[in-house]
Amino acid sequence: MNTAAEHESATVAGSAMHTVTALIKQEHRTLGIVLQLLQRLLEEASCYGAHRDFALLCATVYYIDDFPERVHHPKEERHLFPVLQRRTRRFDGVLEALRAEHVLSAQRVARIHRDLVHYQAGAPEGLVRLTAGVAAYAELLQGHMRAEERMLGDACSDLTDSDWVEIERGFGADRDPLAADTRQEFRLLRMRILAALPEKMRLDAESTEAMRPAERPNP
Ligand SMILES: [Fe+2]
Ligand SMILES: [Fe+2]
Repeated sequence: MNTAAEHESATVAGSAMHTVTALIKQEHRTLGIVLQLLQRLLEEASCYGAHRDFALLCATVYYIDDFPERVHHPKEERHLFPVLQRRTRRFDGVLEALRAEHVLSAQRVARIHRDLVHYQAGAPEGLVRLTAGVAAYAELLQGHMRAEERMLGDACSDLTDSDWVEIERGFGADRDPLAADTRQEFRLLRMRILAALPEKMRLDAESTEAMRPAERPNP
């Protein structure tokens, strides 16, 4: 029979596994929502022939570069992938592909930045190139996030309780600025994202921790 201490430690580990998987899925979901908004803004610009809210367009690109690219992917490479490879080699091929996609996604975001500046400066075909770059990035990331979540589900039986606690400690340290209420520029982005979303997307967004209206700061 388990002792009280063993039971407590299993509960902490179970909660760490739940926290890590929920956190990764939540960060993916928030990126998905921001990408939908970015693509919708570009569609509107194409329909109306001009961009009505350039600041919001820039804020979405700023967020994608600042959190998913500079924090989320590195957290996976630093805290999740090495722990998985320490326990099993069966995900080596998947991990190699995921690491390569992290490099490729950084290159695609750099291209989006360049195309955004060209579009703002009035370059011919600027909007077409920016829209194509964003579509390529979104397609890459959607497949990438699906592959990571599939691997995470498959890996549950490979990782030990202490592995999950270790991953949680590393992964939970840097929180999504759309969830952590600390940076003014992202508070404004969160409010503007919620205000700009169509009704259906707004309901989806508000069901994630990052976008809950209760956490919305006062304007
Ligand atoms: Fe990733
Ligand atoms: Fe990820």
